[in-house]
Amino acid sequence: MPLPQFTPQEPKDPITQEKERLEQAIKHIPQRIGVHAGKGGVGKTFVATQLALTLAQTRTVGLIDADVDCPNVPVAYNVQDELRFSESGKLMPIIHKGVKIVSTGFMQDPDNPIIIRGPIKHRLLTDFIEKTDWKDVETLIFDFPPGTSDVPLSAMQVANLTGIIIVTTPQKSSLQDAKRAAGMATKTGVRIIGVVENMAGEIFGTGAGKQLAQELGVPFITSIPLSKELRETAEQGELALSKKTQKELMDCLA
Ligand SMILES: Nc1ncnc2c1ncn2[C@@H]1O[C@H](COP(=O)(O)OP(=O)(O)OP(=O)(O)O)[C@@H](O)[C@H]1O
Ligand SMILES: [Mg+2]
Repeated sequence: MPLPQFTPQEPKDPITQEKERLEQAIKHIPQRIGVHAGKGGVGKTFVATQLALTLAQTRTVGLIDADVDCPNVPVAYNVQDELRFSESGKLMPIIHKGVKIVSTGFMQDPDNPIIIRGPIKHRLLTDFIEKTDWKDVETLIFDFPPGTSDVPLSAMQVANLTGIIIVTTPQKSSLQDAKRAAGMATKTGVRIIGVVENMAGEIFGTGAGKQLAQELGVPFITSIPLSKELRETAEQGELALSKKTQKELMDCLA
């Protein structure tokens, strides 16, 4: 009798295994978008929260505050609340103007900082992806922390992103870090949707974001001015962007 054929299978590496597991949790969400910059303080949270409000006018949007140790989404929306679990054990997002949000800012107050190392940050991010009730969500946005390691790396590797938006101010240091963020996307195989120039105007200049997009060979999405009115409206949790910018953001995701 011939011996049965046996072909040994290579075990999958842990990152691929985790990526496939998380994909099961969000496979019903067609768009998963990271808002990345490399640089801190250039308006990632501002763009992510305003993008979410823009899209929530016509679809159901989820927002993961991936800045797990210094979360700013609750303050950006001027919302205070506490995350709860459903009876079936799902994390129930906080809803602001149709945007379903999870953030560690809804778990702990700023007087009690979250002091954790990379592996725990990774776990928080994956729990947000996997354990939240994302029912009906059509676009899931990730507000990245600064840098090109830890959580941005986890998100790029296992969050099954359909693309990232790069935010930069027109200043040299921001452009340099935006290039790092773009290089990270290329190395991890994540599509760059385009570049948003933020805080444009007299103080920091205008046009460098467009130049960066040309240099990277990706679309330039929009330029948002540095503006007191914009900031004040946004800080009330309202949609502050001009109709033109809203359209340019929606078009880049169409
Ligand atoms: N176009 C703008 N005009 C005026 N103020 C702005 C603009 N964009 C962002 N801001 C303000 O600048 C500050 C920093 O923005 P934000 O928190 O979004 O940056 P960030 O890149 O997310 O920072 P971090 O790296 O800490 O996460 C916030 O107070 C925000 O309201
Ligand atoms: Mg932020």
